[in-house]
Amino acid sequence: MTDNNAPDSKPNTNPNDTLATPTHTPQLEAFKQVVEQRRSVRIFTDTPIPDEVMDDCLHLAMLAPNSSNLQPWEFYVIESEDKRKQASKICMNQNASKTANKLVAVIGRTDTWADNAKQILKDYPKPVPKAVKDYYGKLIPFAFARGTANILSIPKRGLIKAHRTFKGPIKTPVYNYNQVKSWAINNAYLSAENFMLAMRAYGFDTCPMGGFDEPAMKKLLGLNKHQHIAMIIACGERADKGIYGKQYRFDDKQRIFRV
Ligand SMILES: Cc1cc2nc3c(=O)[nH]c(=O)nc-3n(C[C@H](O)[C@H](O)[C@H](O)COP(=O)(O)O)c2cc1C
Repeated sequence: MTDNNAPDSKPNTNPNDTLATPTHTPQLEAFKQVVEQRRSVRIFTDTPIPDEVMDDCLHLAMLAPNSSNLQPWEFYVIESEDKRKQASKICMNQNASKTANKLVAVIGRTDTWADNAKQILKDYPKPVPKAVKDYYGKLIPFAFARGTANILSIPKRGLIKAHRTFKGPIKTPVYNYNQVKSWAINNAYLSAENFMLAMRAYGFDTCPMGGFDEPAMKKLLGLNKHQHIAMIIACGERADKGIYGKQYRFDDKQRIFRV
């Protein structure tokens, strides 16, 4: 099972989706500017982020690619002064969290894939093709099924091994809870990057933070055990000295391999 089996019902005629640009899109320079100007900002001004900016950035976050389009993410916008102060304390009172206009908790959920698959089928343009029904109705439940105490992982391993031996490559499914957790958090990270770039495009800034006490933050936000916080993003307008240093990256040659 792979995501390129996640089927589309009809040829797509949306011009945004069919536009082929063999050289580059007209927006390339603007895109590069947004990517190059995004920095982790540690000090923000008092300028508030308008609600419509926050709403649009969150909407753009949710356009991120995601596994089987199951969208296992959620965003908690910490707005109230009181909650923001408590959240900042949980982020070890880092400058970014202390000065942020808003904090956004980006969450990956491990308990929604079944409902999300059902919702996709319910919302799908009718009649739903058999391939789509099979994908979300059979393959996804098979890929995620673990059973109590991961009991299903043993027969699943056998089936997958047999498939590899006799039929060829097959995507490794989920065998245990930690794999579902990584899956959910990975998807959440992709949405987080979209969100941070969108904020920059609006002239605002962000600081992704992994430095927080997760149990305390979950308690503050009233999250359940299946809601995993991928990161807390501090958001606001960058202050003059809000960026601590010149952006540093390793040389491309050290990290890019052509095989
Ligand atoms: C998963 C993750 C966790 C991070 N946690 C923190 C953090 O807790 N506090 C902080 O100030 N920056 C944090 N950062 C920001 C990084 O330090 C920063 O992205 C990196 O130094 C590169 O700088 P740049 O984002 O300005 O290019 C985090 C970034 C990521 C992706």
